[in-house]
Amino acid sequence: MEKMKAIVYNKKSYPDKLVYCDVDKPVPNDNEVLIKMNSVSLNAADYRSMKMGLIPKRKIFGADIAGRIESVGKNISLYKPGDEVMGDLASYGFGGFAEYVTAPERSLIIKPDQVSFEEAATLPMAAVTALQALRDKGNIQKGHKVLIVGSAGGVGTFAIQLAKYFETEVTAVCSSKNVQQTLSLGANNVIDYTKENFSNQDKRYEIILGINGNYPLLAYKKTLTSDGTYVMVGGSLSQIFKSLLFGWVLSFGSKKMKSLTAKANKTDLELLVKLLEKGIIKPVIDRRYSLDKTADAMDYLKQGHSTGKVVINIGPI
Ligand SMILES: NC(=O)c1ccc[n+]([C@@H]2O[C@H](COP(=O)([O-])OP(=O)(O)OC[C@H]3O[C@@H](n4cnc5c(N)ncnc54)[C@H](OP(=O)(O)O)[C@@H]3O)[C@@H](O)[C@H]2O)c1
Repeated sequence: MEKMKAIVYNKKSYPDKLVYCDVDKPVPNDNEVLIKMNSVSLNAADYRSMKMGLIPKRKIFGADIAGRIESVGKNISLYKPGDEVMGDLASYGFGGFAEYVTAPERSLIIKPDQVSFEEAATLPMAAVTALQALRDKGNIQKGHKVLIVGSAGGVGTFAIQLAKYFETEVTAVCSSKNVQQTLSLGANNVIDYTKENFSNQDKRYEIILGINGNYPLLAYKKTLTSDGTYVMVGGSLSQIFKSLLFGWVLSFGSKKMKSLTAKANKTDLELLVKLLEKGIIKPVIDRRYSLDKTADAMDYLKQGHSTGKVVINIGPI
């Protein structure tokens, strides 16, 4: 059996549970392609799945992948060896923290030449989440006032840019160190949460995205317009539980609370790649690591203050 390098989850390993080692190179079945990996980005989904004991079969995490197809199963019609592809493998067993991964063709789209592998790897989960939150849950319309709470991370940096693409007025909430970058991404106003509380201001919003932090639901309710929508995307675990348990307190009268479960979607990903090619959105890459340093990268992400995305580069970018 051919071998490859990978990051394997081992719950007994100390201090890092993510171990760089040799494992069998995967073999695609008839309905899969084999991808030689170039870049993979990290997501909260990786460490939250670990924490909840949802361990992929091959014990290799890493969902948002970009690489080149090496071989294809006999039922594959959309792709051929040499094609450059990208996609979200969270619903297909993860596996991206490795030199090779297998994937069904429905999880992938073609990566255009103009988009680098590392840029491609930043999009699938974070940008699709931001798009589905604003468009599908928030029903975003031109001229809306949008508040993005937790605007400086992977999802938030795409949310700012997409909300501007939809021609809205964006107010973003982040800490002091991210204020300049948030403005440079197009936010009209920034609230530095270390100095001010968004709910103490008079301004009201048609859409609030709750992406990070842990704020009282009543603060969100108070800050919505009379028919506004709060979309719960993420945040601390206690924020998520509060929203799931007590979301109804927001949902009386005409104010609405919706919670998002983003779904990988090829059409959405293709739209985002087009926006990237046109320069309408651009990924913010905070840190880059090599595959053997994936445990360090995950520790950094888990601290909850990365600015934009954290990427592992495995092959040429
Ligand atoms: N619902 C879904 O389908 C879905 C899909 C994907 C992700 N998510 C969830 O979305 C959340 C964000 O994901 P992500 O990839 O953007 O995470 P991330 O990149 O780790 O977010 C880090 C950012 O959060 C900001 N932040 C931390 N504490 C904050 C606070 N109290 N107030 C405002 N901002 C704060 C930080 O900015 P500062 O350094 O400036 O504080 C940092 O830039 C996670 O909880 C994730 O699980 C949900």
